[in-house]
Order: sequence, then structure tokens, then C-alpha cells
Amino acid sequence: MDQMLLLLLLSSGLQGDEISSYTASQCEMASADIAMLVDGSGSISRDDFGRMKSFISEMVQNFPVGPNKVQIGLTQYSRDQKAEWHLNSHNKKQSLLQAINQIKQIHGSTMTGKALQYIDNHSFTPEVGTRPDSKKIVVLITDGESVDDVEIPATNLKDSGIEVFVIGVGRAFHAQRAVHELRTIASADVNSHLYLIWDFQSLHDAAINISTSICHAATEPKQLPSYYPTVFIIRLVVLLLTLLVFCSLIFYTHKTTRAKQRVQQNDTELEYYNLGVGGVPEASP
Ligand SMILES: *[C@@H]1O[C@H](CO)[C@@H](O)[C@H](O)[C@H]1NC(C)=O
Ligand SMILES: *[C@@H]1O[C@H](CO)[C@@H](O)[C@H](O)[C@H]1NC(C)=O
Repeated sequence: MDQMLLLLLLSSGLQGDEISSYTASQCEMASADIAMLVDGSGSISRDDFGRMKSFISEMVQNFPVGPNKVQIGLTQYSRDQKAEWHLNSHNKKQSLLQAINQIKQIHGSTMTGKALQYIDNHSFTPEVGTRPDSKKIVVLITDGESVDDVEIPATNLKDSGIEVFVIGVGRAFHAQRAVHELRTIASADVNSHLYLIWDFQSLHDAAINISTSICHAATEPKQLPSYYPTVFIIRLVVLLLTLLVFCSLIFYTHKTTRAKQRVQQNDTELEYYNLGVGGVPEASP
């Protein structure tokens, strides 16, 4: 049901160059380190692997590629992982597109869990060109359920502060169990991080929507994890300041009320006194 709706949404979107340039202009300010993790398992036919490569090229077309903008690394996986190139290997869109064209499918089973752990260990180190304060994004493209556990590696990856987008393509994801696995991997909010595509032919139609989503994430300021010390200290200071303001307000209000009461009391005494004086009959000469 879910997938049907998503597909309808995806295919109802505007298409063609108009959208492409719209997306490109939306992406202008994007800056991020993106690790693509591409399933090259044997269940993907030669033609479909080619469609997957075209899809990756279409997405890359939308990003402003460069050492100060979007850097893209790519790892292919099946039973093992193969780092095709690193974040800092291609600093021009044209050479990146050539590299995508030259990827050769590795075949084998699908061990997505291990591949996610590999990405966490190797794809965002300073040696491969990761920038210290960059926004870090993983884009996983797979055609089926993993044969190993994905939950722990996916949690580790997200705990490292990496935003994870997941694209599931093909028949395997007509089954709820397979969809559930991808939900486990994707970052929250899952609606904007998980894309289910009915078949490889439909990948093309989804490319614009998905790159818009990724661009959006790559343009947002980096979100610091809540336990990050600076964030904690800032929150503490704000809390203390609020308390201080609150206390001084109460103190001040209290003081002025009491002062007023005192003045009122004096007034009463004075009136009473006046009354008293008034009460004395006037002496007539
Ligand atoms: C895809 O794009 C269309 C048109 O902009 C939009 O209405 C739709 O919500 C998008 N779908 C997803 C899943 O982002
Ligand atoms: C990742 O690193 C951990 C700890 O350093 C290690 O135990 C694990 O084997 C590594 N996994 C991969 C797939 O690189």
C-alpha cells in the first residue's frame, strides 16, 4: 500500500528539464560529504545494473561537485566491499560521471550489514578527504534483503552523526519484511529518507525527487548531536539565565508590592490621624 502511494507520488511529479534545472538551482548551496553504497549483488541483471548507474549519474548531475561543495565517494558491495573511489578522488563532475560509467558489477550475495559497518569504518576518515565540519550523508541503493544483520551497523552509522538515505529497488520490496529492514537502516524521518521503487525502469523518474531530498539535507546546517558538549553548555547557560531573569522578576514584583503596601499603610494611618484631628471640634474664638 505504502509503496504504491510512494510510487504514485514519485511518478506524478513534474518531469523533464524544467525540474532538472529547478533541482540544480536548489542544490546550488549544497555542501556535504556523500558516500554512496551500491549493491552489486548477482540478483541484479546486467541491464538493471546499467539502469542503476544511469540513475546515479542523474543524481550526481544535480549536485555542485567540488572540494568546497559536494564530495562524492562510492563503494560497491555484495559479500565484500569494493571502494570504487574516495570522497577526494574526483573534484570535477565530468570525471565523476566517467567513473560511474566505468563501474563493473562484482556479483555475489547481499551483506548490507557488513557494508554499512565498512562505510562507518572507512568512508569518512580524513585520509579519504572528509572535511572536519562537513555534513555526512550515506546513500544506500539495494535490490534485496540482506543476508546479515543490519540493525547494529545501521545504528552505529547513525550514531556517528551520519544521515542515511535508502533506496530500495525491485520486486523484493513488495514484501513487508524487506521494507522493514530498509526502515531500520534509514534515518528519521523515514518518509524523507526511504524510497521504494517498483522496478529498475522507474528509477529514472525518481531521480529528481531523491536528489532534491538529498540536496535539502546537504544544504541544511549540520545538526549537532544533543550530547555534544558545546550544545550541552549552551543549553545549561540558557537555562541558568532564564532562571536568573525569572527569579529577579519575582523578587522585583514582590518588593514593589510590599513597598506599595507600606505606602498604603502610611496613607491609612495618615487619614486616620487626619480624621482624628478632624474629629476635634474647632475651637471658636
Ligand atoms: C516528488 O515530487 C513531487 C513534485 O514536486 C511531490 O509532489 C512529491 O511529494 C514528491 N515525492 C516525494 C516522495 O518526495
Ligand atoms: C570496523 O571496525 C571495527 C572496530 O575497529 C572492527 O571490529 C570491524 O571488523 C570493522 N568492520 C569492517 C567491516 O571494516
